[in-house]
Amino acid sequence: MTSGVIQPTDIREVAVIGLGLMGSGIAELVARSGRRVDAIEIDRSFLDQGMARLHASLDKAVGRGKLTDAARDEILARIRPTDDVAAGVADADLVIEAIPERMELKKALFDQLDEACRADTILATNTSSLSITEIAGGTRYGARVAGMHFFNPAPVMKLVEVISTVLTPPEIAETLALLSSDLGKTPVQVSDRAGFVVNALLFPYLNHAIRLLETAQATREDIDKAATAGLGLPMGPLTLLDLVGLDTDLAILETLQAEFGGSRYAPAPLLRKLCDARLFGRKSGRGFYDYRRPSTLTAPAEDHGRAPVPAEVALIREQDGRLDELAGQITATGIRVAPQPSDETGLVIVAADPRHRVLDAALAAGHPADVVGVHFVESGNRKPGLAELVLPDITAAGTAAKAAALAARIGLNAVISRDRPGFLVEALAYAQFNDAVRMFQDGCASPADIDIAMMLGCGYPRGPLQMLDEAGAANVVGVLEAMHAATGDPAFTPVPLLAEYATARTRFRQ
Ligand code: 3HC
Repeated sequence: MTSGVIQPTDIREVAVIGLGLMGSGIAELVARSGRRVDAIEIDRSFLDQGMARLHASLDKAVGRGKLTDAARDEILARIRPTDDVAAGVADADLVIEAIPERMELKKALFDQLDEACRADTILATNTSSLSITEIAGGTRYGARVAGMHFFNPAPVMKLVEVISTVLTPPEIAETLALLSSDLGKTPVQVSDRAGFVVNALLFPYLNHAIRLLETAQATREDIDKAATAGLGLPMGPLTLLDLVGLDTDLAILETLQAEFGGSRYAPAPLLRKLCDARLFGRKSGRGFYDYRRPSTLTAPAEDHGRAPVPAEVALIREQDGRLDELAGQITATGIRVAPQPSDETGLVIVAADPRHRVLDAALAAGHPADVVGVHFVESGNRKPGLAELVLPDITAAGTAAKAAALAARIGLNAVISRDRPGFLVEALAYAQFNDAVRMFQDGCASPADIDIAMMLGCGYPRGPLQMLDEAGAANVVGVLEAMHAATGDPAFTPVPLLAEYATARTRFRQ
């Protein structure tokens, strides 16, 4: 058994078991660092596919001028593909397991590793959410088992979660953290809890996005755009679900659901249906999007922008001047702006507040069928903001099209949402902020670690707790309470620490 911190320079040979999406990325990353890699996959065709993916990734880097031909060949020469687990791990200083997320498969493999590895080999699992303690507890030397959780695409995303169980001595965790840094990653050390930090926050948010889609809150394109343009995230949630793989997404949510219960984790029925239909996302050619028909990836679901633009728009201004700029933009395109609706009015615009129904403002305006609420969202990362066009269910069928046509005419980056508290952006974001506060409240991670993990693991421009501070805790509480009141779902109740910080006007990040 090992004792003391092993330095990364002493980890020269690494066996990566499982050459799926994650395993092939991890093998590439480790080989790029100059180490020898045993790339192991018991299924010969998966081995060939994994190696083909790895070759393609390196070829892409050569094509983009990031790698020379000679460097690519040296990296490939360090990788030894094999379908023989025992032979592959025999000389390894470290094994990284990245096989499918099924406990019985992991246990069987770790039994085999007990026999086939040297006693001082460290065994790391890249499991997304399964209990590492349960894996370690079933092995002969449980102390050498820890988690090393990479993010997709593994060569790109900067975070590694290093996970300790109650059996893991600090030196093993320290060795894996040092190795992660040596691989060019930033390690965050966490304890063994379902979903660790990132998946425990990311997956309820992704699940929420599927629920918005399946309850017709918005189109898939608009849900994704709410996250990219409204929150500044690199990918929309439905695109990200497709990237990770819907079978993996489902397995992670099931583990979280078993551990924590409650509606945030219970997999959305649509996710299960897509998996039943074997539509696993990008890797199978179709998931929420169809990757076999690239033209469908960019085309809007409904081309609202082509509807006729109304000649006159009534704009009910607020005292706070929120819609003043919008009035100027509309007038500049030659459309008349009236302060109140008249018989000439084609569209009535009111300011929308994610804590309140647009319906009430629509009824007050007197022309509910023609009303659209507008809510502006600043992503805060210097990208152009987003306008949420919010439609009560009683608005006329053509009102969405008129509103979208107007937005297109004046150059607004817009999405269309049904009239539910939080609309799209804040519903998705604030529920996640609440989860992040709960994680801090329950002593699982510090606000700084939560933010760093989400930035480096998922490309967030700023962490959820920093974004929460910017939005204001009281504002976030107000939207969550409205979501709770409208849905009755206790998952949206502001957690006590958030409510406390809102009352005391305290920030999570200093
Ligand atoms: N393999 C290797 N390199 C890749 C790659 C891949 N699969 N995909 C992209 N890259 C590289 C590109 O070559 C490019 O490199 P360069 O800057 O050196 O030229 C760089 O990454 C940026 O790529 P692109 O310009 O093509 O694309 P984007 O700028 O749109 O970025 C992205 C792509 C990095 C994937 C970005 O969209 C992103 O950060 N998305 C969020 C991903 C995320 O959240 N991952 C976590 C998922 S959860 C998870 O993995 C946990 C697990 O348990 C399920």
